[in-house]
Amino acid sequence: MNKDLIIPTHVGIIVDGNGRWAQNKNLSRSEGHRAGFYRLKEICIYAKEMGIKYLSLYVFSTENFKREKKEVDYLMNLFVKLYNDEFLDLIANGIKVIFSGRREPLPKKVLSAMDKMEEASKNNTEAVVNFCINYGGQSEILDMTKKIVQQVVDGKIKTDDITLETLRENLYQNLPPLDYVIRTSGELRLSNFMLYQASYAEFYFPKTYFPDFTKNDFYDAIVEFNKRNRRFGGNAS
Ligand code: IPE
Ligand code: IPE
Ligand code: MG
Repeated sequence: MNKDLIIPTHVGIIVDGNGRWAQNKNLSRSEGHRAGFYRLKEICIYAKEMGIKYLSLYVFSTENFKREKKEVDYLMNLFVKLYNDEFLDLIANGIKVIFSGRREPLPKKVLSAMDKMEEASKNNTEAVVNFCINYGGQSEILDMTKKIVQQVVDGKIKTDDITLETLRENLYQNLPPLDYVIRTSGELRLSNFMLYQASYAEFYFPKTYFPDFTKNDFYDAIVEFNKRNRRFGGNAS
């Protein structure tokens, strides 16, 4: 690994293209999801080894509940299996696992696997992996607003004391802003991913479908990040 690379603090991945990957191979969409999510574990461990402290993974949007029942059921069962089994390797690698999104209407078995994962990894400090599951960026902003309004109503804070830090503390997780967002499969949109956190992120849209997105591809993505000139509204250097 190149020691001179600038490593972003918080990277987001919009995991996309599982379905098309499967279709191209005459496989079922379920097989695409299986291949994609097994690939994801590799990327999590590799990102930690690269020194990335925060990784947010968009694995199921609130809107994905609109898909056929068969596909949603498959994904829910896959999440149970991953969180109870395959993803335990993340914990063994010192990764703290957290979740962002609404709990309702996730099935109980998924919630309990998520809770177990969170509890078992809560003292890990090497890196944080934040799974965005039943997640929507607009809903997150709405839920944050409700929490803050309630604190004002309860007299815990004054309206004038609300700062950007207050907003951050009341999102699903209190994480640093996203530096870099990678979306596989060639789609050029956010699809409701971390709208607030992505305000100054750099974006990268490789055409690769996620099940084919290797550690090398992830490394190339970080090399690409190093070519960007981030200005945050200041002067070009
Ligand atoms: C991403 O792959 C995984 C989830 C959204 C759960 P897709 O299922 O969206 O794959 P495509 O976009 O249909 O190829
Ligand atoms: C976005 O992918 C959601 C996740 C990756 C979990 P989709 O495949 O659902 O997004 P659209 O429908 O193409 O915008
Ligand atoms: Mg998709």
